[in-house]
Amino acid sequence: MQPTTVLECCELSKSFRQGKERLDVLRNVNLQVKRGERLSVIGSSGSGKSTLLHLLGGLDTPTSGSVWVINQKLNCMNDTDRGKLRNRSLGFIYQFHHLLPEFTVLENVSMPILIRGNEPDHARELAITMLDKVGLCQRLQHKPGELSGGERQRAAVARALITGPACVLADEPTGNLDRYSAKHVLELILELNRDLETSFVIVTHDLELASSTEAMWRLVDGVLVREN
Ligand SMILES: Nc1ncnc2c1ncn2[C@@H]1O[C@H](COP(=O)(O)OP(=O)(O)OP(=O)(O)O)[C@@H](O)[C@H]1O
Ligand SMILES: [Mg+2]
Repeated sequence: MQPTTVLECCELSKSFRQGKERLDVLRNVNLQVKRGERLSVIGSSGSGKSTLLHLLGGLDTPTSGSVWVINQKLNCMNDTDRGKLRNRSLGFIYQFHHLLPEFTVLENVSMPILIRGNEPDHARELAITMLDKVGLCQRLQHKPGELSGGERQRAAVARALITGPACVLADEPTGNLDRYSAKHVLELILELNRDLETSFVIVTHDLELASSTEAMWRLVDGVLVREN
């Protein structure tokens, strides 16, 4: 891995078994994400985009191939170390927000900072700053069930970005948002990308978002091909 590479996968394949059938979702995918690079992955529904992000983030294990995050091979790590590396280096924006329903927005967004062992007051302060950026400072005490779909997505964006990760893996980050909120999220992505050199891998159907990235890739029949 080159020093400027934050995330890389080599010959990554993933198959699912369904009874006697084998579904080959990803075939020998190679991808390199450099520091500060924004890239997008497009492809039809069911083409394996979420599967790819889950493998890149160590949330699922590949059938074959390897993933490297900041010079560390995910496949060779135990669950604890993989969890630590994820918390330290990666941010996730899931296709479905995955906020914890019993916690408030403020608690949800503070969580990654608390997990790192930082002081609650510091976590709270950072979370409020992030929530202000995504326009949710009036919803701090709401539970996810008391938010609109777009507000939940924005809270999830704040949670992913709060640790200042080296690379954010975003699955349809603007999927549930109206034009105005989508634009806001895109601006936030661009701002972090510029100010902190955060890299982004963005799965999206939003062509405006995709075309804001430096490299666009498409998944076709399990193969990742460069689109631009
Ligand atoms: N755990 C699983 N077991 C079996 N098949 C799975 C599993 N997870 C995903 N698949 C299959 O793998 C394929 C790719 O799924 P994936 O969620 O990666 O698609 P996607 O490109 O993200 O689609 P969408 O745009 O609809 O979100 C689908 O056909 C899906 O049915
Ligand atoms: Mg998906």
